This record gives sequence, structure tokens and C-alpha cells, in this order.
Amino acid sequence: MPESLNHIDKNISKEEKYKQIIIEIKHLIQHENDLIANLANISAILKEIFSFWWVGFYLVKNNQLVLGPFQGSLACTRIQLNKGVCGTSWGQRKTIVVKNVHEFPGHIACSSASLSEIVLPIIRISSNDEQAQVLGVLDIDSEYEAHFDDVDQYYLEELVRECIEPCFS
Ligand code: SME
Repeated sequence: MPESLNHIDKNISKEEKYKQIIIEIKHLIQHENDLIANLANISAILKEIFSFWWVGFYLVKNNQLVLGPFQGSLACTRIQLNKGVCGTSWGQRKTIVVKNVHEFPGHIACSSASLSEIVLPIIRISSNDEQAQVLGVLDIDSEYEAHFDDVDQYYLEELVRECIEPCFS
């Protein structure tokens, strides 16, 4: 496992960065089976490569979202179902992209610096279950308005599907 991400050129396109870190993260999780260790490193990689304001995980525990591994400033620890952007992504089982957090009803402000946000649900689909089970969410905040576009959504959904959901099995 490489100890730094220096080999990833900071000047390549956003698409190329996502493609490269997905390869990097697949390699990383193949060699480590501890959930917290893997989520911690995934949040560190996303923060370092994209310089997002805040990157982290909330995990479903006792029917609440509880703060998990993250990179960034102090964050709220518990979020209820359908509350805030995270609880809405959990409840609706879909990615939520917020261009301006001040316009999202019920947005939970952990930091006044955050202006836009993307939250993706982490889902376990079991053949026995009628409904997919949400295990947690990946939450990314930016200090820039409308920072997240279709490219971010496309590759972050691929990252969740191919790298993050397998960490829970
Ligand atoms: N803004 C989120 C809360 C989590 S912090 O951004 C880290 C929300 O509305 O759910």
C-alpha cells in the first residue's frame, strides 16, 4: 500500500482523479478488512485529493445516524431519520445534492463555512430482504456554492457501490 498519494497528479481533471482514487481505494480495501480503518482512509483520500471542506461517514446505529470516521472540523454526532440532508438521503435511499445549504429546509449546519453538500446512501441489498437496508451515508461538504455536479455524483456513486458498500460485508 502506498503511504502517500503524491503519485496522483493534482492537475489532472476531476474525472481522472476519481478514476485513479477508485483504483487506489479498491487496492486498499483488498488488503484490509476492518470497516473503520477503511472508512477512515477513504475519507482521508477524498479530503486530500479534492480538498473538500469536510468528508465523512454517518453510520446507522439503533435507528439513528451516528458520526463515523471523518476528515474536517468538529461535527454533530447524531442525526435522526429524515432530518437534515443526511437523514433525508437515508430516508429516501438516494443521493442528495444541495447547491446552497441555506435553501435546503431543515439543513443541519455543523459548520457555517459549508455552502454546498452531497450525501450518498450506503446500501446493503440482500436477496432475502424486501427492502434495501441503509447502513450509513457518505457526506461531503464544500465551502463553495454549487460545488458538486453530475461528475461528482456519478463517480461518488461508483465509489460507494464498488468500494464502500463491500467494506460492510
Ligand atoms: N449538513 C448535514 C449534517 C452533517 S455535517 O454537514 C457534517 C445535514 O444537514 O444532514
